[in-house]
Amino acid sequence: MNVYDSGRMADILKPLGYTLIESPEDANLVILNTCHIREKADEKVYSDLGRIRPHKDEKMIIAVAGCVGQAEGAEIMRRAPYVDIVLGPQTYHRLPEMIARAQRSQDKKQGPGRGVIDVEFPVESKFDHLPQDHTTVGISAFVAIQEGCDQFCTFCVVPYTRGAEYSRPAQAIYEECARLCARGVKEITLLGQNVNAYHGLSPEGKEWGLGALMAHLATIEGLMRIRYMTSHPRDMDEELMAAHRDIPQVMPFLHLPVQSGSDRILEAMNRKHTRKYYLDIIEKMRGYRPDIGLSSDFIVGFPGETEQDFQDTLNLVKEVGFSQAYSFKYSPRIGTPGALMDNQIPEEIKAERLSRLQELLFAQQQAFNDSSIGKTMIVLLDRKGRKEGQYLGKTPYAQSVYVEAPARLYGHCVEVNIEKASSSSLTGTVVTQSN
Ligand code: 5AD
Ligand code: SF4
Repeated sequence: MNVYDSGRMADILKPLGYTLIESPEDANLVILNTCHIREKADEKVYSDLGRIRPHKDEKMIIAVAGCVGQAEGAEIMRRAPYVDIVLGPQTYHRLPEMIARAQRSQDKKQGPGRGVIDVEFPVESKFDHLPQDHTTVGISAFVAIQEGCDQFCTFCVVPYTRGAEYSRPAQAIYEECARLCARGVKEITLLGQNVNAYHGLSPEGKEWGLGALMAHLATIEGLMRIRYMTSHPRDMDEELMAAHRDIPQVMPFLHLPVQSGSDRILEAMNRKHTRKYYLDIIEKMRGYRPDIGLSSDFIVGFPGETEQDFQDTLNLVKEVGFSQAYSFKYSPRIGTPGALMDNQIPEEIKAERLSRLQELLFAQQQAFNDSSIGKTMIVLLDRKGRKEGQYLGKTPYAQSVYVEAPARLYGHCVEVNIEKASSSSLTGTVVTQSN
């Protein structure tokens, strides 16, 4: 989502004459778009600011955007007084106004502490104020369709930083996607913190879920692949699962965080689903799409997690078989109920459990990739590789593939014979261009 937001910020600033450059030295404006989800991401903000600071001259404006801005507001300017603007994820459509205010206060030499802070949750939606066109487009694009979350998992800051759940109207999404495809985009990943809770207004004024939205988007000319992330198990409805069977553009891949395999911990996390509920969804999903590639998020060392609870997580992983996954040590976040729980797990235990879990997940990922060897897969070549003539693409199951290919195949779907596999990517040879 931050990648999408950063792109949209560039789009808003383009009419003001700003263009993107590679490094901060010569910048007039540096925007640090930040993440608050875990402590590690949060700490990076201040070290990154420290690296930018030496380049700051009278002209340069430094802005901290994103969820750290939202959560810490004025505190950022106290810790880093050279920051001129702090904003949250819901106010970046007001950046031009904020920059003008920051420039005025610089002109008056009002000095530190006179910065601009806008961390409101405005009544207007930023989406109604963003420019129609994305400034830079590649082959694969992100489009935010839903934002915020009403789930309040006890470890998570998202409901506080991104705000209440909101779904964009279907027609606005359709138009954004169609404009991207008219400029050569072939794959769109629909984004939302809880994307499958999507319940936007249809063009006829009804309410559409994600399945119906994707069916509508599938009519866009040139759009070959549709993906979405991130989903909550409670919001996987039949229409969405059936979309993976019925809509050819919807890829056979699902990122569905489970967080833990222990019912006790799931309850303490306020996940509102059990282990069985999750496993039942996976089984149903495989009924609709037997070849579906599955991914998940895991947290180890949530307060009160015993070795038995952790074993339940390992067993769930063995039972499901994931093609890829993300796993994290629990990170207590100020303002969330989890941070106040008194049975916090020592750091060494968290680290040790994480390494055992990751060993299992990496082995599954390697096995999934190994099973691709010898197959012919349809790969969308969406990135140029580092070497001359090398391209990178994605299989339907979201595996990265390296191939040698003539430049004319960039941006196309090609059939690739898979020859080699590592835990993170595949290598193969282009057989033909696919239809
Ligand atoms: N500690 C560790 N991991 C977290 N996540 C969210 N909050 C925390 C936290 N406090 C993880 C969850 C979520 C992913 C985006 O980040 O697994 O699905
Ligand atoms: Fe955070 Fe996801 Fe839970 Fe919402 S559903 S509170 S975004 S982990």
